[in-house]
Amino acid sequence: MRDALEQIKNTAIEKLEACGDLKALDELKVKYLGKKGELTAILKQMGKLSPEERPVIGQLANEVRAKIEEEVSRRIAQLKEKQLAAQLAAEKIDVTMPGKKFDIGKKHPLTIVMDEIKEIFLGMGFDVVSGPEVELDYYNFEALNLPKDHPARDTQDTFYITENTLLRTQTSPVQIRTMEKRKPPIRIISPGRVYRSDALDATHSPVFHQIEGLVVDKGVTMSDLKGTLEMFIKGLYGEDSKIRFRPHHFPFTEPSAEIDVMCFNCHGEGCRLCKGEGWIEVLGAGMVHPKVLLNCGIDPEEYSGFAFGVGLERVVMRRFGIDDIRMFFENDMRFLEQF
Ligand code: DAH
Repeated sequence: MRDALEQIKNTAIEKLEACGDLKALDELKVKYLGKKGELTAILKQMGKLSPEERPVIGQLANEVRAKIEEEVSRRIAQLKEKQLAAQLAAEKIDVTMPGKKFDIGKKHPLTIVMDEIKEIFLGMGFDVVSGPEVELDYYNFEALNLPKDHPARDTQDTFYITENTLLRTQTSPVQIRTMEKRKPPIRIISPGRVYRSDALDATHSPVFHQIEGLVVDKGVTMSDLKGTLEMFIKGLYGEDSKIRFRPHHFPFTEPSAEIDVMCFNCHGEGCRLCKGEGWIEVLGAGMVHPKVLLNCGIDPEEYSGFAFGVGLERVVMRRFGIDDIRMFFENDMRFLEQF
């Protein structure tokens, strides 16, 4: 029996040493130390021994069990450590590796200038309001003194949705919506998209942007309009910019004017950029027509106002020297990255 115990001890140690994973190690533990294990099998034969031999063999058996248990624990600890080391090596992060490069978006040139324009008018005490792009005929035309048979309607190639709804051709309907809701004093600008069924070319797009302006109060005059627009243009193009007013006609203003900025390229001489004119048209404006005030329930005897409309694309093209309006809408990264 002594030999058998020695044998068990030696093979157990040998096998434990050779064993490579925790599960197999557990199986070996059961094989040697378990209730049906080899050591227990030997101990069951203790009865056959003489009374003198029993304690000796018993002690030996305990030593063998202790040795195997110790060996098992040692190997478990060893294997766990190895496993952890392997896991740590696998999960190691190299903090010196270069990071992923994120492309950061940029503001669209139209947005850049639109934001500047908003800033200029906010500085003069204007609110920024918005209106719907799908608009009623009433707001886009009728209330702006363009009745159904008005010839000026033909000049705005309108996308009709139904007989009475359309894609707004101008931001001027926001004037009406604002005057219906607010009492004077009113001082607003309203930027947004407008639509006209123009063919797309270098200077025309079926969708573009306008900024509407409206001021209504007691005693507002044409000189307030001039002063405001001069502040605006100087804020946008610099203190030395020059503007001029030309008489014009709009159904919703009386009197009306078109406002030109002196060509920054030739300073009024006339060049390719301003098509030989020396001036570039940027705005339509005028004193709000009394009929329009009346349509909104404002008494033209008590109040007066001025209004204006700016075409954003033209302003931005001039600002950045862009010669094709299609660039704004094609979203070519090579173009957009330049701003
Ligand atoms: N709505 C005009 C257009 O699209 C621009 C305009 C002119 C707006 C005069 C105004 C204005 O408010 O007073 O051509």
